[in-house]
Amino acid sequence: MDLPWGDPRSNKFATSIGLVTSNGPHGHDIMACEWTHHLSYRPGLIAVSLGPTKTTVKNIRASKEFGINLCATDQTIIASVAGGYSGRDYDKINVLKEIGFQFFQADNIDVLMVKGASLNAECKLFKEVTFGDHVMLIGEVLEATHNPEKESLIYNNGKYWSLQSIEKPNEETRQSIKDILNKYKKTPNDNDEIR
Ligand SMILES: Cc1cc2nc3c(=O)[nH]c(=O)nc-3n(C[C@H](O)[C@H](O)[C@H](O)COP(=O)(O)O)c2cc1C
Repeated sequence: MDLPWGDPRSNKFATSIGLVTSNGPHGHDIMACEWTHHLSYRPGLIAVSLGPTKTTVKNIRASKEFGINLCATDQTIIASVAGGYSGRDYDKINVLKEIGFQFFQADNIDVLMVKGASLNAECKLFKEVTFGDHVMLIGEVLEATHNPEKESLIYNNGKYWSLQSIEKPNEETRQSIKDILNKYKKTPNDNDEIR
């Protein structure tokens, strides 16, 4: 079956918004990507899942590099501009500069990065894989910096949200769960790999 855009079932996912910056045949560009995921620690790999017609895809295929800037809670305007217009039609970087946002040149790639994002990661293209109607571009992180004062913006049900922390189960609850776990403990199999 399909899980289309805007379907209430698709809308149950909560994600951060990657602002994907690129540079290529269409010049400097920025797009919003809710499908931005951390895939691996060693090496650090980040994946973005993009519609194949996006200008960003064309830029990244040509240059083999891109920036991931996790949108901060005070950057909703960037998400809406980057996600609402195509770099085919507009120079979104200059639009955002005129609104008052700032960019800086990445150290290792020829791409602009978003100042004030919660995370800036410079990536070189590691792999491209097509999954269904999207193209997953996986980037190997060359350099990453985070901004401790900024929180990542959350996207859910077509709206922007900020994170609110909820207490983990308390010690008493955890202990009672451990007692139940012990009741259902499995006997290790000789062939099992021990982690
Ligand atoms: C909040 C938000 C999240 C988005 N997430 C994605 C995404 O995960 N993948 C995708 O292909 N497009 C996504 N889009 C749409 C693109 O950002 C949009 O099509 C943009 O115009 C593409 O820009 P480009 O043509 O300059 O690359 C999103 C848009 C918004 C507003």
